[in-house]
Amino acid sequence: MIEKILVFGGKGGVGKSSISAATAVVLSDLLPSKKILILSFDIAHNLSDLFACEIGKEITPLATNLWAVEPDPNEYAERYTKNLIDKMKQLMKEMPVIGKLPQIEKNIDEMFTSDSIPLALKNAMFFQKILDAENLDAPEEQFDLIIADFPPTGNMVALFEIPEDQAKVMLKYSLNFYNSIKDAIRKFSKVIRQLVKPFDDYEKRKELGKEILNMIVELEKRGERITDLIHTVGSLRLVTIAEKPSFEEIKRARDLTRKYITLDAAHINMLIPKKHAKTCDFCRKVSSIQQKYLYDIRNEFQSLKIWESDRLQEEPIGMDGLRKLGREIYGDTSADGILKPHL
Ligand SMILES: Nc1ncnc2c1ncn2[C@@H]1O[C@H](COP(=O)(O)OP(=O)(O)O)[C@@H](O)[C@H]1O
Ligand SMILES: [Mg+2]
Repeated sequence: MIEKILVFGGKGGVGKSSISAATAVVLSDLLPSKKILILSFDIAHNLSDLFACEIGKEITPLATNLWAVEPDPNEYAERYTKNLIDKMKQLMKEMPVIGKLPQIEKNIDEMFTSDSIPLALKNAMFFQKILDAENLDAPEEQFDLIIADFPPTGNMVALFEIPEDQAKVMLKYSLNFYNSIKDAIRKFSKVIRQLVKPFDDYEKRKELGKEILNMIVELEKRGERITDLIHTVGSLRLVTIAEKPSFEEIKRARDLTRKYITLDAAHINMLIPKKHAKTCDFCRKVSSIQQKYLYDIRNEFQSLKIWESDRLQEEPIGMDGLRKLGREIYGDTSADGILKPHL
């Protein structure tokens, strides 16, 4: 059973992916009996770079209880929509007249391709991975904890809207497709009337229509389940650095995501280590600016758990690098302290 879905959001470049990955590594060390999945929701995946190993579009093992995946939205969209698309094509071709014209048949085949699937629908497929991870039919394949590395704020909000809307997007997409076929029919209507004797297999069309409707209802149910999961076990953590633009951005992110997910914590990353602030003039200046924002951020988010992490000298890359960043962030906080910081 999925116990928690940790979502990391914030401005680009502040360390969302690094902190997601470090959190996954820390939790995997602390909770050997839990199965943990880190899932990239950013089309510009970079988990492979962070873990310094090839992570594919299939779930890839990183440690005995830790897996990662960078889903390919195209492949996923195709897998989920292919069945529906095939049924739509079949239905179109079963329509009286339409299916009997080679020009239109060609039109139908060419129009419904994976390139024509709207981006929103492709993005929806990221969430399907969460449902796969829940996999109620195969308990041994279920994950306990999901760490979701999200894209920067604007796209993050758009992503949250998707599960509720995916059935609507699909309907609209199908309707657009249907309308464009209708145009083609209109264009050929004269020829059609002259050439083709209408042939009407109404029962077959009704059956196909029912199947298509069921698929859309199924898609809607999946969307509802995802929304429900995010509401009940989702936990948003906003990442910022101690600078104005990213601080402003997490304030906006907090307001924009309020209706989708509970905000549990904030991360203030890349602080100049104190010992350098004492000895190096440049560091002291940068640090004094950071201190001002640190004060403002703590103040603004005082009801939340705030984790502060220094800028490390080495890039936090690979298992050991990420573990180091994890220690820098969480110190000796327990797994419960990380998962339920408000308790
Ligand atoms: N605490 C840190 N110390 C040093 N480097 C860091 C730290 N956090 C992140 N980085 C580095 O900063 C860069 C951006 O981090 P990344 O996690 O990709 O940000 P985001 O996902 O928010 O775009 C990366 O090169 C990463 O290695
Ligand atoms: Mg990132």
